[in-house]
Amino acid sequence: MPLPAILDVDTGVDDALAIVFASASPELELRGITCVAGNTELPDVVDNTSALLTMLGRTDVPLAVGAVRPLLRAPVGRDNAIRHGGHGRGYAGLPPTGAKPIAADASQLIIDEARACDGELTLIATGPLTNVAIAARREPRLPELVRQLVVMGGAFRCPGNITPVAEFNIQADAEAAKIVFDAFRGCPRRPLVLGLDVTYQVRLESSSIEEIASRAGDAITVAPGSEAWGAPGTPLVAYLVDALRYYADWHLDAYGFYGSFMHDPLTVAVALDPTLVTTSAVAVDVECRGELTTGQTVVDWDGVWDIEPNVDVALGIDTRRALEQVVERVGAATAHAAAVHPDA
Ligand code: RIB
Ligand code: CA
Repeated sequence: MPLPAILDVDTGVDDALAIVFASASPELELRGITCVAGNTELPDVVDNTSALLTMLGRTDVPLAVGAVRPLLRAPVGRDNAIRHGGHGRGYAGLPPTGAKPIAADASQLIIDEARACDGELTLIATGPLTNVAIAARREPRLPELVRQLVVMGGAFRCPGNITPVAEFNIQADAEAAKIVFDAFRGCPRRPLVLGLDVTYQVRLESSSIEEIASRAGDAITVAPGSEAWGAPGTPLVAYLVDALRYYADWHLDAYGFYGSFMHDPLTVAVALDPTLVTTSAVAVDVECRGELTTGQTVVDWDGVWDIEPNVDVALGIDTRRALEQVVERVGAATAHAAAVHPDA
């Protein structure tokens, strides 16, 4: 039976790959996609997500609008936009946004689906945890109603990417992350959290990107400094190629390689196949007041707090299988889009 799931996103470039991956995974029954401000401002997140669902032929998936800003701290705004392009889609323009948001807001959809699925819902979060925190506050039974929460966030034994010690999703709304990790303490299945420790180990580089496009019949050449990688035949491949081209420019500048980490599609892959990672059950809390350390995921590796573990932290990942699955699933979606929109 397919896993009923909700994907909570701040659709930037890697979130787009996560949405495409999820839409091409028959093991997932996508019960909704919920939007949260993060990589870019909320209207862009909603527009990007709507356009992707439209291009994927998945306007059947309920799209819900969520938090426009973190619970307490100042909105990220466009500060993070430099990483994903001004509107969270790199160099891509905005394709038609056919999928219209439902009336219920994100936290209400999460609560409604958790109640309806009665313990079977997988909640996958690839942005700041604001929507999940609001849902947990509105429905205190959420941790029992959710089969498992799978999160992209944190830097547990590695440096941060937004401050020296904090990862973007957690730091963007540290209070929300703290609320979520506290709320899910003691639930039947600990949240499975992929931090930078594992997402930094898998890179989408030229040959993989060219392979994804080739599944749609598009021959592109991924090369630094190029004005365009080719002329994709479908809106979906054109969007992904232009978004990834910006992301590759940014990764070349920030990390020295021309390609993309895949924080978010890896999180969907692991939600479907937890054997991709090795984990450690640990007690985790989130720093919310540190002048230098706010957003840090603090781990009690040696049990000095003497409290039960509340998170399964991913520490190792099968990089070969993980990359294969992303190329396979995203490639399947681009091939399908080409079939659905042959004359696009
Ligand atoms: O730190 C990486 C995370 O922050 C990813 O989810 C990326 O999309 C951004 O949201
Ligand atoms: Ca994200």
